[in-house]
Amino acid sequence: MSVDEKKEQPRESLEREIDAVVSAETAGLEPEQAGEIREKIRQRVRAEMEREIRLKTAADRREEARRIREERQKEKHAGEGRMFQRFNRNFRFQHMVMFSSVILLIVTGMPIKFPNFILSRFVISLWGGINNSTIVHRIGALMLVYFMVHHLLYTILSRDGRRDFVLLLPMPKDLRDAVQNIRYFLGKVKEKPRFGRFSYIEKFDYWAVYWGCIIMIGSGAFLWGESIALKYFPKFVLDIAHEMHSDEALLATLAIVIWHFYNVHFNPERFPGTLMWWHGQISEHEIKEEHPLEYEELMAKQAKTAAEVNPQ
Ligand code: HEM
Repeated sequence: MSVDEKKEQPRESLEREIDAVVSAETAGLEPEQAGEIREKIRQRVRAEMEREIRLKTAADRREEARRIREERQKEKHAGEGRMFQRFNRNFRFQHMVMFSSVILLIVTGMPIKFPNFILSRFVISLWGGINNSTIVHRIGALMLVYFMVHHLLYTILSRDGRRDFVLLLPMPKDLRDAVQNIRYFLGKVKEKPRFGRFSYIEKFDYWAVYWGCIIMIGSGAFLWGESIALKYFPKFVLDIAHEMHSDEALLATLAIVIWHFYNVHFNPERFPGTLMWWHGQISEHEIKEEHPLEYEELMAKQAKTAAEVNPQ
């Protein structure tokens, strides 16, 4: 039996039922009047039923697509257990703005710092000359300022932002974890440190970016508004800003290339990198390995909620 035929069956039986009710209700009326009323009701009911069928098939299609998506996700992560949402959409958006702007700023800033380097000349020629390159540097700078403002508002105004900020504060446990990790790598202890939502490595990454943004935006603003700055500050303040901008840029670039790339890309357990920055999810296997304390907390919370919903 085709899908259309299946849909027709309940429609016909319902129409018969309605006919019977309407005939009973219009029994005392003139046949012409009764026929008119019956026809009006029939048209109304048919329109309503067709609308419902349309809505139902659209909802069915959406439901089916969702089921297929989930199935594919499950297949992809078979063996890794279920997935946990680690970063929300807002946070992922901020991260994307931040890394796009930093890449632009490095690519356009470094050739100014090392103008005689052959790669610098090549990159500047790709932008169509130094003028265009410095314009792109300023566009990257505005993106970074936007990111900083967005992140500050997110930290103050959203529940997840406030929670993460508190969890990112350095604690004495981080120092103990760092020492234990070094001892573990040296083979002195068998147990790796057990991290919560953020390890000391992630906290270091976060605060390095925070500090870096303050220095780069502060000193960059001086360079951008050089003539205005010279009206209010002595020249040596501008020289210091220039030095800070230039040196912190190199430090940030090296930190990203060595520290960050190793931790998230070249580390053998992660190579060639994860797509967490895109979908924000972490597998059960990974959360148990990397953030066991957070995993235990989540499980305890789930058990508590289940007990509240379904008391024995
Ligand atoms: C990750 C962030 C950034 C990096 C890596 C970076 C990198 C650099 C580098 C390497 C230089 C050349 C310094 C030298 O002459 O030795 C430079 C120049 C400059 N930067 Fe940045 N920068 C960043 C952010 C910013 C921001 C946020 C602003 C503005 C608020 C800014 C504005 C400038 C300006 C005005 C110059 C002078 C050269 C020009 O006219 O384009 N930069 N930057």
